[in-house]
Amino acid sequence: MSGSRIQDTKYPSGPARTILKGRCLARRRLLTCPAYGAVGWQDRIWKALAHHLVALVQNRSIMTTPSQPATTSPAKVALVGVHGFGAHHRANLQRLQDAGAVELVAVADPNPPAEGSLPASAAVYPDLDQLLQDVTGLDVVIVATPIQTHAPLGLAALASGADLYLEKPPVASLADYYRLQEAAAATGQAVQIGFQSLGSHALAAIAGILADGRIGTLTGISATGKWVRDRAYYKRSRWAGKRTIDGVDVVDGVATNPLAHAVATALRIAGARTTADVAFVETELFRANDIESDDTSVIRIRTSTGLPVTCALTLCVDEPIEPYVTLHGTLGTAVFHYTLDRLVVTTDGVSTEEEFGRDDLTQNLLDHRRNGTPLLSSLADSGAFMLVLEAIRTAPLPAPIDPAHVRWVGEGDAAHPVVDGIDDAIERATATHSTFSELGLPWAVSARV
Ligand SMILES: NC(=O)c1ccc[n+]([C@@H]2O[C@H](COP(=O)([O-])OP(=O)(O)OC[C@H]3O[C@@H](n4cnc5c(N)ncnc54)[C@H](O)[C@@H]3O)[C@@H](O)[C@H]2O)c1
Repeated sequence: MSGSRIQDTKYPSGPARTILKGRCLARRRLLTCPAYGAVGWQDRIWKALAHHLVALVQNRSIMTTPSQPATTSPAKVALVGVHGFGAHHRANLQRLQDAGAVELVAVADPNPPAEGSLPASAAVYPDLDQLLQDVTGLDVVIVATPIQTHAPLGLAALASGADLYLEKPPVASLADYYRLQEAAAATGQAVQIGFQSLGSHALAAIAGILADGRIGTLTGISATGKWVRDRAYYKRSRWAGKRTIDGVDVVDGVATNPLAHAVATALRIAGARTTADVAFVETELFRANDIESDDTSVIRIRTSTGLPVTCALTLCVDEPIEPYVTLHGTLGTAVFHYTLDRLVVTTDGVSTEEEFGRDDLTQNLLDHRRNGTPLLSSLADSGAFMLVLEAIRTAPLPAPIDPAHVRWVGEGDAAHPVVDGIDDAIERATATHSTFSELGLPWAVSARV
């Protein structure tokens, strides 16, 4: 890790808006901050977390004012980006249209959708500009396009007067994040970010577990990500695995795209929503694939309440497992498998498991418009995540892992790399809040030399 320091110049005097990257600076801060060294620091963390827990139980969002008056007619919706994850939005919009909640009036994509794949109500455009020239009175625009297009398309959608559903990660830099936030704040338009795990009802159950002390005092949170992405994944789009394209930020790495929900969910449970809720972020980024971005990384965060949040994430394991966020308590653990809405609580060696439902974020945005229901994943509440993205964006290039420590499984485009001992490394990193090089892993140490 480098010892660089990033100052948030937009709000230079604001509290805890500094990102510190690099072991030396981070350690210095840990040693000098009284909250970490003094007796009873865990109690202080606990108290500071209390108000976040109340917010979590109530699913309170900062942006709670409905942007449009109550109405019962279907919301007029446009979808930008119809393939890839856009196909999920198409299916969801069809469901909502069948229920009378929306009317999909138009889509935009340079690669048009297949004949008959849209409701008859939807006009097809090659881009958002042409769509907005023809179609007025939109209530909601959903943007599910490559990361580097989120800022211009999101700003154009807001300029049209519509509310915005923007896929994660929100945008590719902190500067663009502030730009978007200012545009939305100027008119009071709503912006929902597509971290769908934040709609899980398990979050309220987790808040209850923390409030009733079932796992004791919370000492830290970790996110464990062990997925697999093959060569075809990185070949599917020009932007896949890129940090920039033609000088434009993309930041398509393991923590900002495939496993971004792990980071966002861990931050939410830690009570870190806005930029003010994060004290610092450290990154250690590696890659086994032949890409620009990272595919095997540790992201270590301190919240402004002093809680450590460590995310150990890879796309280079033998056998993928569903990712999870672990709450480490003095009396036990709670493990949230966020893709499955499953919560496993273990105390005294006894585990209980429960599955939950989840609120759909598009429906939540419609409810927000109609009656002021708080947004579950607002732009304002993605500020903490954006500090993580900014630390990754400005970090040194990910270190390539020596091929001697990488095994390839499968053939051709279906092949994926497996890093030596990665399963165990991720477990140890999350259990001890350590980076891979701090654990002394040979591939991490040699890549860093
Ligand atoms: N919430 C989730 O679980 C989830 C899952 C996967 C992807 N995503 C997000 O969805 C977004 C898209 O990812 P993807 O993997 O589907 O990408 P992709 O490259 O596979 O597909 C993007 C689509 O957008 C279209 N497109 C590209 N530029 C466009 C433009 N300027 N205007 C209109 N359409 C344009 C492409 O033609 C394509 O149809 C990303 O932000 C990604 O992070 C979210």
